[in-house]
Amino acid sequence: MNKEAIIKVEGVSVSFWQNNVGVYSLKDLITKRKSPFKSKTILNNINVEVFRGQSLGIVGRNGSGKSTLLRTIAGIIKPQKGTITVNGTFAPILAIGAGLELELTGYENISMLLALYGTKNSQGNSIEKISEFSELTDEVLAMPVKQYSSGMVARLAFSISLANDSDILIIDEVLAVGDQGFQAKCMEKIYEIKRQGKTILFVSHFPDDVLKICETAILLENGRITHAGDAKEICNNYKKLF
Ligand SMILES: Nc1ncnc2c1ncn2[C@@H]1O[C@H](COP(=O)(O)OP(=O)(O)OP(=O)(O)O)[C@@H](O)[C@H]1O
Ligand SMILES: [Mg+2]
Repeated sequence: MNKEAIIKVEGVSVSFWQNNVGVYSLKDLITKRKSPFKSKTILNNINVEVFRGQSLGIVGRNGSGKSTLLRTIAGIIKPQKGTITVNGTFAPILAIGAGLELELTGYENISMLLALYGTKNSQGNSIEKISEFSELTDEVLAMPVKQYSSGMVARLAFSISLANDSDILIIDEVLAVGDQGFQAKCMEKIYEIKRQGKTILFVSHFPDDVLKICETAILLENGRITHAGDAKEICNNYKKLF
């Protein structure tokens, strides 16, 4: 493996403002002395280095900060502390549940995103190839994405993100919502991408899937990395949480 760091996360902390009173109206704002908003630390001093060609698994309970970490690495969230250096390109946004335009149809989303990423596309991807991989019917692809089931959204998002010829693939539980046939096909495609020497960040609640793809992993607990290293060992630590 080429030992060049493609992603370097140093001392990264992310906090969000949270409100536990539900809807907060203008009246509340005027009459209440105390703001219901509290800052909550979601990622706490995260340090990770990912090398070119490495597949890193990210595991942890619901709410431990996995998706926030991916979004921060992808530049969607700006950390309050620390730095992130990325020496490569992503096709991340779709794989982490953002980037699809819900009012547009599946076909329109594919066209839009191909146009956006098209110049980097060296694999001859086309609307036909992407729609074929997604196995969504013409009828579904002609519907606005807001009418899709979550599995259909995952199929579309994953098919578009795979079509992008980027250095880093980010996968956030996309396999969890697809049906068995699509999961198997995605795994095949992920292996292929891995064989091409690309870097993969793989979030999953299924240790067996993590072990199939990743040689190393990190375990997040309450926004901190509690374990990092060999994927098998980390998956065992993860299983012990339950
Ligand atoms: N936009 C936001 N505003 C406030 N809090 C948020 C926001 N997004 C996430 N959080 C909080 O950050 C924490 C971590 O969320 P995150 O989605 O990163 O967890 P996760 O590990 O991906 O969980 P899951 O396994 O359920 O996908 C949770 O407590 C969540 O409530
Ligand atoms: Mg998540």
